Amino acid sequence: MSEAPALAGRREEIAALTRAVESLYAGRGTVLEVAGDPGIGKTALLNLLARLAAERGATVLRARARSGEAKPYQVFRDAWKRAAPPTAGLRPPAAGAGPPWDTASDHELVRALLDGCARRDGGRGSVLVLDDLHHADPASARLVEALAEECAARPLVLAFALRPRQTPPALLAALDAASHTGHLLRVEPAPLDATAIASLADCGSTAIVASEGKKWEEQADDLPKCQRNSGDTVLQVNRTITYTVSVKVNASLTADLSAALKAAVGTELNTTMTKSYGLTTSLNPGQSIGLYIEYQTNVHAITTTSSAGQTTQLVNVTAPTGVVTARSC
Ligand SMILES: Nc1ncnc2c1ncn2[C@@H]1O[C@H](COP(=O)(O)OP(=O)(O)OP(=O)(O)O)[C@@H](O)[C@H]1O
Ligand SMILES: [Mg+2]
Repeated sequence: MSEAPALAGRREEIAALTRAVESLYAGRGTVLEVAGDPGIGKTALLNLLARLAAERGATVLRARARSGEAKPYQVFRDAWKRAAPPTAGLRPPAAGAGPPWDTASDHELVRALLDGCARRDGGRGSVLVLDDLHHADPASARLVEALAEECAARPLVLAFALRPRQTPPALLAALDAASHTGHLLRVEPAPLDATAIASLADCGSTAIVASEGKKWEEQADDLPKCQRNSGDTVLQVNRTITYTVSVKVNASLTADLSAALKAAVGTELNTTMTKSYGLTTSLNPGQSIGLYIEYQTNVHAITTTSSAGQTTQLVNVTAPTGVVTARSC
């Protein structure tokens, strides 16, 4: 048996992870989506899944999608690059000597991935863990969908985490469809309750979302506030717009606490960042549009354990949610 996982307040989620790992024994797989906002604990759950699977002798392949990544299938390439032996079984017969990622069809890649997993894990099952899938390039997103259809019939767990608000709508729709047909198990960790927060112990400083606060929108002011079509024909707008967003913390923190909070929020604190947004729309004569950035203030609990005992500090963090909308103004 494995030791108790050091995750507070996640009994149901851990039960779902455990069931997914145990399905491997029966020669079956699972598609497991961990969905939620920044800092809610998605990666922590994937870490636990990877550990449980490795303890049970399954082969674990891991990678995270990276923002702005252009290469097709990047998250899969990364997962396979890190696995040993490299690229074993990955070459589809028809792909020739070149790397299959650049030449094979999605269908061939799915076959090659499944064969590669089966060869590598010697029948004990494989777990493919993909984090931050909201950043996935379109080819990776397609491959996730295609691979998901294959998991039920073989010992393969496909587990991934994403921030729904930042996930391309087409991928979200495909995953929703899979969850409605029972092909995908969705885990949506909620903010930890007070008991769970209080139970955090002996892990240095840990910041988690204790409660989700209000959401609102701010108009991006890097643009002309309202772009207006003052001509008399329809104006096609197709460009990348950069705008700034800021993350604000309402307290001054020690280096230790701010490092824990930074890890949870995923960015520098009290900072302004430049982001970009691809705007494609058409404006009728006289119509104006502006860009609206959604913000949210969450209460984060930063818990520290020291020889003096355990303390929890609550801090408000205001940060963009990743949702940007262009609409009439
Ligand atoms: N249940 C928990 N018990 C204790 N600590 C936790 C728990 N869940 C998350 N944490 C801690 O909270 C912090 C944020 O969690 P995590 O990185 O998993 O969030 P996330 O949802 O992956 O965020 P992001 O969307 O930014 O990647 C981490 O330091 C993590 O170790
Ligand atoms: Mg994460």
